[in-house]
Amino acid sequence: MDITLITTWIHPILAVIWVFPLIGIVTYFSLQVRQRRLETTTGKKSKIPPAVGVEHVKLGRWMAGSVVILCLVGLAHPTITKGFITQHLMTENPFLGIFIILIFIFTILSLAFLYRAKTKLWRGIFATLTSMGLIIIGSQEWIFRRSSEWYLSHYYYGLTSTILMVVSLAIVQEIYKDRSHKWRKAHIALNIFAVLLFIGQGITGIRDVATIAFFAAK
Ligand code: HEM
Ligand code: HEM
Repeated sequence: MDITLITTWIHPILAVIWVFPLIGIVTYFSLQVRQRRLETTTGKKSKIPPAVGVEHVKLGRWMAGSVVILCLVGLAHPTITKGFITQHLMTENPFLGIFIILIFIFTILSLAFLYRAKTKLWRGIFATLTSMGLIIIGSQEWIFRRSSEWYLSHYYYGLTSTILMVVSLAIVQEIYKDRSHKWRKAHIALNIFAVLLFIGQGITGIRDVATIAFFAAK
């Protein structure tokens, strides 16, 4: 039993049994919210219950945080196996090793504070810090980025969709406050793009699982 290979599966398993079902539920509720709002603004009585809005946001908050954690798990595996174990980071470059551990901790803390932040300023600060943490961890040399084929890269799709989730968390209050619906429209556009990226993550993720298994079997 190769422990490095087996632990590679933690991230895909988490994606399949927890994150993707949540994405499906949140997307379903989003269509209900929209349909209900369009029906009620044209004066019609909607058959869709008003609770769909609350459910969309409640599960949306769970989903957004879960995507960030999933992304961190996806980044943690190569960081530990390639960076810390194969490249002996703690003996070769202990400063970088400690820095990376601290960035993991700060990113999780920033996400937790983003959930609790009340003002626009603090939401902006913690959303930026969470995104910066993900980018710093993701730019280390041991992360496989497939930069020459960035348009098929699990890394670039993953980081972009995760940052879009952080943005969604940060702008929830703005969607409710804004009477001109600008934030609502921005939210819809960004999240349709995120859903397309999630589909891309499903496809590129399966490709990567298969590729890793193929090379391990050789
Ligand atoms: C799969 C990703 C998502 C999609 C496709 C999506 C799409 C939508 C759509 C179509 C609406 C209805 C807009 C309208 O009234 O016309 C909406 C509303 C909303 N969404 Fe999302 N959304 C997603 C994720 C999220 C997440 C992660 C959050 C929060 C963290 C969130 C927060 C909200 C809020 C606060 C509203 C307004 C609800 C209301 O008016 O009662 N959404 N979203
Ligand atoms: C929201 C969905 C997802 C996000 C945000 C995400 C994000 C990431 C990130 C940032 C990495 C590290 C960079 C890399 O090695 O490419 C990664 C690695 C990986 N992901 Fe995903 N991923 C998602 C879904 C999936 C799914 C559905 C699968 C497969 C079924 C999958 C399989 C993998 C594999 C095999 C790796 C390599 C892990 C390693 O090298 O140890 N991912 N993911």
